[in-house]
Amino acid sequence: MAPAPLSTHSAITLHINGEKYTLPVDHRTTLLDALRERLDLTGTKKGCDQGQCGACTVLVDGRRTVSCLQLAVAAEGREITTVEGVAEGDELHPVQQAFLDLDGFQCGYCTPGQICSALGVLEEHAAGWPSAVTDDVRPEAGPPPLTPEEIRERMSGNLCRCGAYVSIVRAVAAAAESADAAAQDSHSHDSHDTKEQVA
Ligand code: FES
Ligand code: FES
Repeated sequence: MAPAPLSTHSAITLHINGEKYTLPVDHRTTLLDALRERLDLTGTKKGCDQGQCGACTVLVDGRRTVSCLQLAVAAEGREITTVEGVAEGDELHPVQQAFLDLDGFQCGYCTPGQICSALGVLEEHAAGWPSAVTDDVRPEAGPPPLTPEEIRERMSGNLCRCGAYVSIVRAVAAAAESADAAAQDSHSHDSHDTKEQVA
């Protein structure tokens, strides 16, 4: 008797923006197509569909991922963040606000991927990851200054056909500055609280 054909479909559960979605998928379905075509999360954009433009960038377990090259079945059980999950309710994330304030887009098609990628850049930079243009890559050197050159290199996987690059670099730099200011603010509050406790 011939063996039963292997199934080409599975029911998977994806964790997206804090919600769980269970859906049957063909094993060949990309995460991008699952998001857009099956779950109606159309904020993530399809540009090239072959890993070259960055329009489909999402965060998977906090890491930047081009969702057109990731199979949905391989994303099961991992924490996925799309652009729909970046804001806190009605309050835009500082990266989103910086893109708005500094005109970091024209048509907006690449923008969701740029924003998710920028979030990854800020995390990677804060964790001390060097880039291809970092001069001093010794771990003890700490994060390099987030210069325009560093930002351009770290965001180079995200293409913008409108050529809004100058404003995108400014927006990422502004978001990094506001994240630094917020971190220093919370540090000074913490030390103030500690002093009060000691007193
Ligand atoms: S659509 Fe995924 S990299 Fe272009
Ligand atoms: S804003 Fe149009 S592609 Fe970037």
